[in-house]
Amino acid sequence: MIVQERKVYVTRLQPGAVLSRDVYNERGQLILPQGTEMTTSLIVRLKQMATIEVWVAEHMVGPSAPLPTESPVPTIITTQPKPSLMDCYSNLIGSVENLFLEARAERRINFEPTRRLLRELAEISSKESNFLHLIINLRTIDEYTFQHSIGVGLLSMQIGEWMGLGPLERQELLIGGTLHDIGKCQIDAAILQKPSRLTMEEYEIVKHHARYGYEILRNSGVDERVAVAAYEHHERNDGSGYPRGLQHDQISRIGRIVAVADVFNAMTSRRVYKDALSYYRVLDEVQNNAFGALDPAVVALFVRKMTSFFVGNQVVLNDGTDGIVVLVPNDRPTRPLVRTATGFVDLLQRSDLYIQEVRAI
Ligand SMILES: [Fe+2]
Repeated sequence: MIVQERKVYVTRLQPGAVLSRDVYNERGQLILPQGTEMTTSLIVRLKQMATIEVWVAEHMVGPSAPLPTESPVPTIITTQPKPSLMDCYSNLIGSVENLFLEARAERRINFEPTRRLLRELAEISSKESNFLHLIINLRTIDEYTFQHSIGVGLLSMQIGEWMGLGPLERQELLIGGTLHDIGKCQIDAAILQKPSRLTMEEYEIVKHHARYGYEILRNSGVDERVAVAAYEHHERNDGSGYPRGLQHDQISRIGRIVAVADVFNAMTSRRVYKDALSYYRVLDEVQNNAFGALDPAVVALFVRKMTSFFVGNQVVLNDGTDGIVVLVPNDRPTRPLVRTATGFVDLLQRSDLYIQEVRAI
């Protein structure tokens, strides 16, 4: 039984100390329950999540504190998006599909109806606190191109918000992200939908979609700053991108942001729906910059923010253990600290274990 407690800076915490109170993260989720005996690994994790102080037991009756042998695993409730959000999203899918048809026929678009729907969706979705949750739940409709377009728009706008950009630039990101691939309407569908690998010639044809998109948007009176999102979303920092092989600051900010959103959304969409494990792997891969030289500052911010949504995920490890993700290292999002019914599993230390399944986000 705990008879006395004191507050301790995490920097001064020693292994063996026993928590006298529960520790919560900034989102109010339980990280470590009362009675947890601190280990070096747990202390490191607390520092990573910027916890400053914790309460520890000063005197215990008995040789050691009781470990949480049957620590309750909190229930994560997966709520569906509100109907109005889904209605708005479905309308938007139809509207974006019309834009592609219109652009194909006339090489210009009337963007106003879509702009209104986008604003509406942005407003509704801004009320969803867990952005990862939102993006996953919006992936219930199977028109890849259009849902990808909207997904990239929302992601780009969200990155802009995380970067502290103003409302005008966030609007531009939303629109530019949504229309980034509009130029694909000019590419032969047989090439775009080809299941096998493209030939060099076919790939060269596909590359034109960036310039086509820019031209369509400019023809339609869309602002230059928005149109460059289409032009530059395949440019890469190291000059390896297309169509112009721009580098670093030659690429507009909107181009660099939409590129990150495009890569992340495309990589996660290719997986089976709700294969949430892929979010861990994809962020790992995006972070390692394995898919082209994306802007490192945008990537770092994006990974840091997205991984914060992993906390609280209900997961199953490959040895069958159920658990809750409690801490996610920024540099290794696939190796979080997992709380199980019998204690903690630190995947940074346990290379034999990995997350096999994500049950709920
Ligand atoms: Fe593209």
